[in-house]
Amino acid sequence: MEYVLAITGASGLAYGVDILKKLPSKKVLIISNGALEVARYELKGRVNEKTLKSYADESYDEDDFGSPVASGSHKYDALIIAPASMNTIGKIAAGISDNLVTRVASIALKERRKLVIVFREMPLSTIHLRNLLTLSEAGAYILPASPGFYHGPAKLEDLLSFVTSRVFDIIGVENKLIKRWGD
Ligand SMILES: Cc1cc2nc3c(=O)[nH]c(=O)nc-3n(C[C@H](O)[C@H](O)[C@H](O)COP(=O)(O)O)c2cc1C
Repeated sequence: MEYVLAITGASGLAYGVDILKKLPSKKVLIISNGALEVARYELKGRVNEKTLKSYADESYDEDDFGSPVASGSHKYDALIIAPASMNTIGKIAAGISDNLVTRVASIALKERRKLVIVFREMPLSTIHLRNLLTLSEAGAYILPASPGFYHGPAKLEDLLSFVTSRVFDIIGVENKLIKRWGD
């Protein structure tokens, strides 16, 4: 199995880091320039770019159109964008492929592969909502970065695990990251 994780410039980079750390191999990481900018504020040296890349088997910058994942002939099982910025979502919904994240997303849609979008913005404009609807209609799974509280989270890790668990359920990665309802 091969999974591609794109981290873009929305708040909540910790969601992407958690998914990356817990994903089984093989995992390919793409980091947008916007994500690197947000990392300066949110991760503040706790997780730097080098550490982030060390969690992946391969990693690419947003302008690396020569990477294997930039071609539809390269097979992978799922693309996860977490967190997904509204900028990236708007571009994918408009069919724009101007960096490696939007290029790989357009491939996922045309090849009918699993595309999981964990977005974060608040509030949402009508344009954001339309873009998310467009992507949902095109086959993407849309997950708000809004963990539930019914599993009794005690720490940040529990909130991250909730979202990671839901992503893994969609892409078919067995997990016991959270206590499930009814267990
Ligand atoms: C600290 C910080 C937090 C941000 N948070 C968000 C956010 O939660 N959602 C969002 O859509 N954009 C957010 N932005 C704006 C995006 O980073 C910006 O639109 C950027 O162009 C996104 O680039 P990318 O989509 O190529 O990663 C934030 C920017 C900064 C600096």
